Amino acid sequence: MKVTIDLLLKMKEKKEKIVALTAYDYLTAKILDEIGIDLILVGDSAANVIFGYETTLPINLSEMLIFTSAVARGVKRAFIVGDMPFLSYQISKEEALKNAGLFLKAGAQGVKLEGGEQVLPIVEHLVKFGIPVMGHLGLTPQFVYQLGGYKLQARTKEEQEKLLKEALLLESAGCFAIVLEKIPMEVAKRVTEKLKIPTIGIGAGPYCDGQILVLHDMLGLSEKKFKFVKRYTDLSTIIKKAVKEYLEDVKRGEFPQEEHSFKADESC
Ligand code: KIV
Repeated sequence: MKVTIDLLLKMKEKKEKIVALTAYDYLTAKILDEIGIDLILVGDSAANVIFGYETTLPINLSEMLIFTSAVARGVKRAFIVGDMPFLSYQISKEEALKNAGLFLKAGAQGVKLEGGEQVLPIVEHLVKFGIPVMGHLGLTPQFVYQLGGYKLQARTKEEQEKLLKEALLLESAGCFAIVLEKIPMEVAKRVTEKLKIPTIGIGAGPYCDGQILVLHDMLGLSEKKFKFVKRYTDLSTIIKKAVKEYLEDVKRGEFPQEEHSFKADESC
C-alpha cells in the first residue's frame, strides 16, 4: 500500500518511527522501496554526491526533475519527496507553484523547501493548490554562506525559540512534515513534542518522529565523514576491491572466459 500523508501522521501518533533515505536513481530507489523505506527524498544533496559540487547551490531544476522521474519509476510504496533546488521557489509564489508542480508531474508526491518565516507565503500557496510540502529547519544547506558553514544550529536559547516558532508556523502554513537538520537533540525533542506533524531528523538526535540520511553517506561511499552518520557498510572499499579484480582479470586475459562469450550457433 502506498505511503500517504495520513499514514505518516498516524505513524507519529502511534510513535512508529518513519524511516527515510535519499535516492537519485531508478535501481537504488527500487531497492530502498522493496526493503520498506517509508519516505524517499530526491535530495538536492545530489549536487554533492552525484555531481561533486561543494554546496547544493549549483544543482538546477531540470537535473532534479530527471532524478525524480528515475526514482519514481522504481518506487511502488514509499512517499517520494522532490527537493526544490536553490532559486526554484524563492523568486515568486507563482514560479514556486509551477516548479513544485513539475516535481509532482515527474512522479513525486510532495516537495521540500528550506527556510522558516520567509517561506511561509510560498508554503501556503503550494498547499492551497494541492501540493504537499515538507519544511526544513536548523542547518539549511542552501543558506550555507549566510550560516558560515555547516555548523550545529539552534545553540542559543534565542535561536531555539526562533526554531520552535518557525516549526509551528510551518505547521500552520500546511506543511505535512519538517526535516530538522543538525540541531541539539533536546531542541529536536521539544519541537517534536509540540508539533502535530512528524519531524524527520538528520543530526538531530533520537527523539524525532523519523530519521533521514543521505544514502551515499550511510553506505560509506562519500569521501566526507560526519558525526551524525552511522556508516552501515564501506561500499567504497567493496567497489574498489571488485573493480581492481576486474582490472587485473582483463589485464591477465582471465576475463571474459568462454562462459561469458557467444558462439555463432547459440540461441540468446
Ligand atoms: O538534500 C538532502 O539530501 C537533504 C537531506 C539532508 C535532508 O535535504
